[in-house]
Amino acid sequence: MLTDTFALKGTICYSISPQELSITPNSYLICSQGKCAGIFPVLPEKYRGIPCKDYKDDLIIPGLTDLHVHAPQYTFRASGMDLELLDWLNTYTFPQEARYEDPEFAKEAYSIFAEDMKKSPNTRACIFGTLHVPATEILMEQLDKTGLKTMVGKVNMDRNGSARLQEESAQTSADATVRWIEDTLNRFENTNPILTPRFTPSCSDELMKKLSEIQKKYHLPMQSHLSENFGEIAWVKELCPNTHFYGEAYSQFDLFGGDCPTIMAHCVHSSDEEIALMKKQGVYIAHCPQSNTNLSSGISPARRYLDEGMQIGLGSDIAGGTSVSILRAMADAIQVSKLYWRLIDSSMKPLTVEEAFYMGTEGGGSFFGKVGNFKDGYEFDAVVLNDSTIPTPLKLSPKNKLERLIYLSDDRNITAKYVAGRKIL
Ligand code: GUN
Ligand code: FE
Repeated sequence: MLTDTFALKGTICYSISPQELSITPNSYLICSQGKCAGIFPVLPEKYRGIPCKDYKDDLIIPGLTDLHVHAPQYTFRASGMDLELLDWLNTYTFPQEARYEDPEFAKEAYSIFAEDMKKSPNTRACIFGTLHVPATEILMEQLDKTGLKTMVGKVNMDRNGSARLQEESAQTSADATVRWIEDTLNRFENTNPILTPRFTPSCSDELMKKLSEIQKKYHLPMQSHLSENFGEIAWVKELCPNTHFYGEAYSQFDLFGGDCPTIMAHCVHSSDEEIALMKKQGVYIAHCPQSNTNLSSGISPARRYLDEGMQIGLGSDIAGGTSVSILRAMADAIQVSKLYWRLIDSSMKPLTVEEAFYMGTEGGGSFFGKVGNFKDGYEFDAVVLNDSTIPTPLKLSPKNKLERLIYLSDDRNITAKYVAGRKIL
């Protein structure tokens, strides 16, 4: 018998393309050595006798990727949403992040975050920590144990922080980063470091230059924020008078895609030039609709990014956003796209369920490689969803069930979760 091979049976659902779903009830999804190995209406001869878990009418979808989330902000989500970005950071965020100087606080707070991430429909995430190395390592240890695949960043900030949340100098920040990378690179099974300059206002040119050298030495990916809020964009223009647009504040240090796999969160107000450079460099956009609404940042033109064939996934951006569920982010993305179409640009058609589903699965998952789909050779990340907690007398098609789960599900609807072939829930 084939070892390391098993099947899940149920209604299998994945993206054929951003515009089209494949949905097949009563089908077998094969996992072989952690990879997807086909979907069949009847178990083929060579798989006879392999372990098979029958999930009946449950939907089986690819694992979801949260492309942008701040772990230390999970403590205060859904509080203090009365301000815009820069005031929100100074009033609520920086004082709370300063508390992670205390490893005991970090242990307590991060264990709640890690447990909730494990229970969510997400299988992968790109995560910001704080500037503190010990706390960030605690976060990585805790996440590694969940079995989720994650990239975690020690945040860099050497300017415009607060008395309690700022690194002493560019050199101090760079030294701490190298120490942290040496300590964590290849140490964990499921968790890896990702370079994380907070955003341009938090990082001096000197620090960016050092981070660029570190990136070239260790070949780490990187994540940051871009063109989220008008006040922020105006500030970057003042801070970097030599640049033509915000993205250049990163690209001038080779920290903007190309040989440096990059995620930029938000891109709500990116200029044509900025968009062209993101496209050329393959920069990933983390679309965070709930956060952009809560912080009154605006509506990111996800329709345009998708139609231009750019790399785009979904992010919760906790605590700008309140929910870690990327199913919820799909619904939010659809809803704000309707407002964009109605209020801003009638040529930008609302996102469809298919498109939002694609962004939450393969769109963001592809930052991790062949992830977020059930096509052959993809990593076997799967979430099993059951809609028995949301009863209706109506007879629903599988597509309708999926749409309802996108809008209505919570953790109670998750029957099981597999990451790279391993069952973690
Ligand atoms: N820009 C810089 N830091 C942050 C943060 O913590 N949250 C959001 N939404 N934007 C940021
Ligand atoms: Fe963010």
